[in-house]
Amino acid sequence: MPSPEQPAPFSTVLRTASSEEHEAAEQSSFMSHLLGGRLGVEAYADLTGQLWFVYRALEGRNAELADHPVAGPFIDPALLRSAAIERDLRHLRGPDWRTGLEPLPATAAYVARVEELAAGWPAGYLAHHYTRYLGDLSGGQIIRGIAEKTWGFERKGDGVHFYVFEDVANPAAFKRDYRAKLDAAGLALDEVERRRVVEECKRAFTLNGAVFRDLDARYPLSA
Ligand code: HEM
Repeated sequence: MPSPEQPAPFSTVLRTASSEEHEAAEQSSFMSHLLGGRLGVEAYADLTGQLWFVYRALEGRNAELADHPVAGPFIDPALLRSAAIERDLRHLRGPDWRTGLEPLPATAAYVARVEELAAGWPAGYLAHHYTRYLGDLSGGQIIRGIAEKTWGFERKGDGVHFYVFEDVANPAAFKRDYRAKLDAAGLALDEVERRRVVEECKRAFTLNGAVFRDLDARYPLSA
């Protein structure tokens, strides 16, 4: 049991600190419409395209980050999503999927932040790693089920590869290990740095929320 002098496990701190932001993301207009099966497949394809930019930034500097004492232990080839997203985009947008694919303003801002941190503050990058990959392994599975049902994608097939972690045999065990690594990372940081990482995690959620808002503006639903 943690004694009063010991800080709460960092995994708990991150989850608790971002729970309001998580709820806001889940309840955002775009996500509610998606979860309610009310969006057309082009909105889903657009979301997938935006995620391609995000994961390219998240994964672009993995080789350098792998050697970092704090971020390094989280760099895991089993998580890589870029190739899976590209398979989905080929299905959703065709062989020329890259043509005409542009980041929304909110996506560009999100990417810029991730790139900045991957290059200059790996502990801050970790906040983004946590926000996306642990989310994909969790709520992402709900989104996959809805996408398969709404747009008729083959189960775990083309269109939803992004949500399928072929190399993570046991997601619950993987998440347990991931949280243990977060706890170890928290112990390696001083209090000021821990707080900065927590703030960055909230920012990561806010940046995701902004992408949803941009997408919502592009695919408005009348009531
Ligand atoms: C839109 C619908 C969403 C649903 C239905 C959803 C659902 C969930 C659920 C059920 C969990 C708990 C899983 C568990 O206890 O293992 C979870 C965890 C998580 N979600 Fe979401 N989520 C959504 C969106 C998002 C978004 C947009 C993000 C961030 C970009 C996100 C980030 C996370 C993270 C980081 C966790 C792990 C929390 C932790 O245990 O530390 N989620 N989500």
